[in-house]
Amino acid sequence: MENNNLNTKQQFGSNFGFLMAAVGSAVGLGNLWGFPYKMGANGGFAFLILYLILVVFVGYVIMLSELALGRKTGKGVVGAFTDLSKKYRFIGWMSAIAPWLILSFYCMLGGYCMKYALANLGDVFGAGWGVAGADSGAYFGAFTSNMVETSIYSLVFVALTVLIVLGGVKGGIEKFTSIAMPALFVMLVITIIRSVTLPGAAAGLEFMFKPDWSAFQGTGWITVLAVAGGQMFFSLSLGMSIMVAYGSYLPKEQNMERSALIIPFADTLVAIMAGLATMPAVFAMGQTPGAGPGLLFITLQTVFGAMGGFGPFFGFLFYFLVFIAAITSSISLLEGITAVAVDTAAEKGKTIHRNKLIAALGISIAITSVLVSIDGLGANGFPQFFGQGCWLDAIDLVSEGILMPLAACYCAIVIPTELVKEEVTLNGNQFRTQKFYDFCIKFIAPIMMVIVLLGQMDGFFGLGMFG
Ligand code: PFF
Repeated sequence: MENNNLNTKQQFGSNFGFLMAAVGSAVGLGNLWGFPYKMGANGGFAFLILYLILVVFVGYVIMLSELALGRKTGKGVVGAFTDLSKKYRFIGWMSAIAPWLILSFYCMLGGYCMKYALANLGDVFGAGWGVAGADSGAYFGAFTSNMVETSIYSLVFVALTVLIVLGGVKGGIEKFTSIAMPALFVMLVITIIRSVTLPGAAAGLEFMFKPDWSAFQGTGWITVLAVAGGQMFFSLSLGMSIMVAYGSYLPKEQNMERSALIIPFADTLVAIMAGLATMPAVFAMGQTPGAGPGLLFITLQTVFGAMGGFGPFFGFLFYFLVFIAAITSSISLLEGITAVAVDTAAEKGKTIHRNKLIAALGISIAITSVLVSIDGLGANGFPQFFGQGCWLDAIDLVSEGILMPLAACYCAIVIPTELVKEEVTLNGNQFRTQKFYDFCIKFIAPIMMVIVLLGQMDGFFGLGMFG
């Protein structure tokens, strides 16, 4: 049993365990839902290429910087930035508030996945609680506006997240993700095989991989870049305290450079695989790829409904897969802020038990996720904020649209390259990508991030700066 006292430092048991936890954090709704729908709505192939460029030139270097900062300082994100300089403490807080905000809607969406997995399972058995051939749009609307049902699913998801994190970094997070991630990979492969073998699937593959630059016309490339950039930060769990916290649990002998390469690689692979699991099926069943957020719960449910006999089975498999991916991410969000809470308590010389902090954070998230749930994606008539259509979008605007790219931008600027070099070369490891890292972190990453930030704000506030 792990000792969860404040004074005992948490640590991953093995490099494989750390990688599964970090990849588990990165792979989530962002990959299985966000990536396909954003690609669908932003030009397919053109989006894919920009995304890949961003991962290589920006994602990798920020990932390495965050992991190094965490391991060097051994602290959560607030303590880590404070160790660099007291004046950087606010960057830590920006990175700590964002995951707390994100958890409110992430848990609700995780709950939606549970509902859909169960409903498809119901259809497998022909039970009364299945979708039972209902119109997907109407079914989704009825579910999301049902305050009690959505709140219950959200609370169950929050409880599961809290339970795993209570198990500790090694006994909870590492243990769970070491099983869940390989299982997720297998489920994804099965789903892809079904999707690409449907008659008419080739059109989906063409949409993803046939060069078409029309989305870049005029200032269109800025919009695509901004969407791809926001997606990249979210998908790689950057600028959000997680990679700093996970770095702080990483034993000194592990090769950090290799991990910083593997995590974005695996995350991007899963995003493309998610595209392969969804796009061919969407085209084969005569649906549109640019359906926006409705892709996961409306378009895909329609696809499963239209598949015939085995449709509900594949529906169950798919939504269960998304649920697993979501929970391996939500536990990292909770762990990121737990690390901050633990440090802050320790700074004040308090001896609070880690588990009590997790429970308190869990309660706060339970409250916020119920609030987001009862908004019913804006359908239940509550007042709305920042010109957005629902609370989820308003919270997303603040966290994903502003705090995250800002925090990641600061990471690129304030984490000393010397610190990163020192951490990478511990134990005589070579820093093979040092020249590339130095160049990207100084020039490419900050410039890209400013463009991303401008584009995100333009999109969110509808300023029309880019046409
Ligand atoms: N990376 C996760 C996804 O793609 O869904 C979401 C996420 C997890 C974002 C952890 C941020 C984070 F810190």
